[in-house]
Amino acid sequence: AAAEKGGWSSFMAKEVSEEPDAVANTVRGRIHDGAVVIPELDGLDDLFRGIHRILVIACGTAAYAGQVGKYALEQWARVPVDVELAHEFRYRDPVLDSGTLVVSISQSGETMDTLMAVKYARERGAKTLSICNTQGATIPRESDAIVYTHAGPEVAVASTKAFVAQITALYLLALHVGRVRGVLSEGDSAQAVAELEGVADKIAWILTHEQERTTQLARWMADTRSVLFLGRHVGFPIALEGALKLKEISYIHAEGFAAGELKHGPIALIEPGQPVFVIVPSPVFSPLLHDKVVSNIQEIRARGARVIVIAEEGDAAVLPFADEVLRIPLAGPLFEPLLAVVPLHIFAMGLAEAKGLDVDQPRNLAKSVTVE
Ligand code: G6P
Repeated sequence: AAAEKGGWSSFMAKEVSEEPDAVANTVRGRIHDGAVVIPELDGLDDLFRGIHRILVIACGTAAYAGQVGKYALEQWARVPVDVELAHEFRYRDPVLDSGTLVVSISQSGETMDTLMAVKYARERGAKTLSICNTQGATIPRESDAIVYTHAGPEVAVASTKAFVAQITALYLLALHVGRVRGVLSEGDSAQAVAELEGVADKIAWILTHEQERTTQLARWMADTRSVLFLGRHVGFPIALEGALKLKEISYIHAEGFAAGELKHGPIALIEPGQPVFVIVPSPVFSPLLHDKVVSNIQEIRARGARVIVIAEEGDAAVLPFADEVLRIPLAGPLFEPLLAVVPLHIFAMGLAEAKGLDVDQPRNLAKSVTVE
């Protein structure tokens, strides 16, 4: 096993280090002359033109990737998107028709809850597309179309590199469908493609420049009993993912919130010393949301929260109110989640390690849950 880890202390450490490759390999071969071309989707143009709704189903981390993907699918493909947990979807009486495309997301392709939901959607007449990391797995075999993520085998129970690959695949799908439906301009598409092609290097920058500091921060916080995560827009699902990772491998109570929801309840949780991660939107691309989140930071800081911000390089507005600042490179609209999640993965891993826990095999969890 030591050899399989390639010198890393754990599979999770190895897999986090592979996040840049997971993105780059998922993009590779799918861009031609600055436009997205997904060979696996050849012949499906009519299907994409005929749908009026997309329903994303998944479980766990994959469902958070789906929540991020919703923003891109709506923005670039102009199709209304709902995201639902597979086990919730399956046991109600959902409205489905042949104009609904059900997109399932699964690293393993074997999650029983997701598989049952896909089969159910198909029986009800919906079209199904699977985003999957495992060639020939059951879920893609049960689907009308497949877009594979190329993250490589993921061994650690907590999903990391598969998550960034899933978001990448959803973005590729959104750009592809947007062009096919004629709602995405060539220029906007080319700009997004250029951004997507730059993501891998930006993740690598975070690993080089911020991994050590983030791990150090996690060590200092090894005795923490509860951590909150705030995000807005595409940063919201990233807050949920940051909290999930911490629960999964550090066994620390963690919750993610939409920053705008703070005043409607969660702010009551803030007491002196409460650590709160805040994912700050880009001041360049989302100045309005940026300012709103900065005032959220002021509100929780005034109540004694210990604020750890994840902010773009050059964002000075956060400095007066932050106890710690973790930097990510500047990224175009919608691309921040692929970067902001990386320090959160590193943090959860560092904290679990500091507590002496087995980061690859957390208690009570399985890599792939093949029972309902
Ligand atoms: C399990 C794993 C999670 C994973 C989820 C979905 O609960 O512990 O890490 O996110 O299943 O797995 P899938 O293979 O469908 O992506």
